[in-house]
Amino acid sequence: LTGFITLDPGYKNSGSCTSEITFLDGELGILRYRGYSIEDLAEKASFPEVSYLLIFGELPTAQQLAQFDADIKKHTLVNEEMKNIIDGFPKTAHPMGVLSALTSALTAFNPKAVNVENEKEMYEAICKTIAKFLVIATWTYRKTMGYPLNYYDNTKGYVENFMQLMFRLPTGPYAANPIIVNALDKLFILHGDHEQNCSTSTVRMVGSSHAGLFASISAGVSALWGPLHGGANQAVLEMLEEINKDGGDTDKFMAKAKDKNDPFRLMGFGHRVYKNFDPRARIIKKAADEVLNTLGVDDPILAIAKKLEAAALVDEYFVSRKLYPNVDFYSGIIYRALGIPTDMFTVMFAIGRLPGWIAQWKEMRENKEPIGRPRQIYTGHPLREFKSNK
Ligand code: SDX
Repeated sequence: LTGFITLDPGYKNSGSCTSEITFLDGELGILRYRGYSIEDLAEKASFPEVSYLLIFGELPTAQQLAQFDADIKKHTLVNEEMKNIIDGFPKTAHPMGVLSALTSALTAFNPKAVNVENEKEMYEAICKTIAKFLVIATWTYRKTMGYPLNYYDNTKGYVENFMQLMFRLPTGPYAANPIIVNALDKLFILHGDHEQNCSTSTVRMVGSSHAGLFASISAGVSALWGPLHGGANQAVLEMLEEINKDGGDTDKFMAKAKDKNDPFRLMGFGHRVYKNFDPRARIIKKAADEVLNTLGVDDPILAIAKKLEAAALVDEYFVSRKLYPNVDFYSGIIYRALGIPTDMFTVMFAIGRLPGWIAQWKEMRENKEPIGRPRQIYTGHPLREFKSNK
């Protein structure tokens, strides 16, 4: 404590706001969106329904959901000039970097979505963001593959559109496998929101200066990219593939994760809030079994993941630090079975987290939160006289 300032690196013990959106209990492994349990929502709701719930606070009636869907579909065309921006990237560019740039570029083509001074403008900016973000997110994949970019098909649902935007060939119709659509719908719900995590706090921080919604979401995408946050789902698969290539010796990698001189961490394990099982990981682990069995995929990576989890759950180092599998540990195994490449895994996380980012940004603006501006403890030089070193 120095005067009135409390130092709290990583804000581990600081609350930045009040919020009515998401409730977490890290000790009991509880996650609720607007009071509904994540287990109920993942089982009984659709991703568009949950997006509506997160953003507007109540589950929609059939009529409200249909209207929301129709209002989103008014904005599913992305300005063709955006292609000049995506063309400027090398094919090797990471999809998250392209997505962050394209999201910010949306402001150039939709200037009114910057300062949303009334409910009608806010609603339109929200519908535009949901419509266009999905399209540009899939364009990042098409770009890295060197494929032509696809357009949103307004005759299909949101998750079906994700599949056709990603995988439809220029010729012939595209029908998404309902098992895959159902699995993705559940995965997007599970990523919907998570109170003041790193990327959501970033969206709030950027939005608190009254920067526009696209710019705020773009900043959230960049924060999510980091391997300690959303980038972990890509890092988990790379770790599991490395263990598999190394002969599946999980004990060797457990030892590396515990070695303080080794920077290696067991990716997909540990959480700032959950000191018990991440409830999402439990649901995703079950879904991974179901999807791989239904699709007839026998992936040795899944067996390695389960072996790692079993070993960590009885290992003193992990148990004493309350390190359990988190949302990122199993999700990549499902994405991989669906044919989604590893460097697109964090883009998948961003698509799921979009309604949460929007809901939190909207709440911050409606609550007229002050601009975010934390203080510091100065530890640099005291006053010193200028003497040039030249
Ligand atoms: C997400 O915040 C959210 O809600 C995020 C998220 C969301 O939905 O938005 O849930 C999504 O980001 C999930 C987390 C994905 N990240 C990973 O899986 C990366 C691996 N995990 C970590 O690096 C770590 O656990 C964090 C970043 C998730 C949490 O870090 P903390 O809370 O700052 O904890 P810490 O780094 O201070 O670790 C505490 C101790 C340390 O050991 P000691 O110094 O006490 O000896 O636990 C150790 C750490 O070294 N530790 C690990 C470890 N995670 C923590 N050791 C080995 N492997 C790990 N994975």
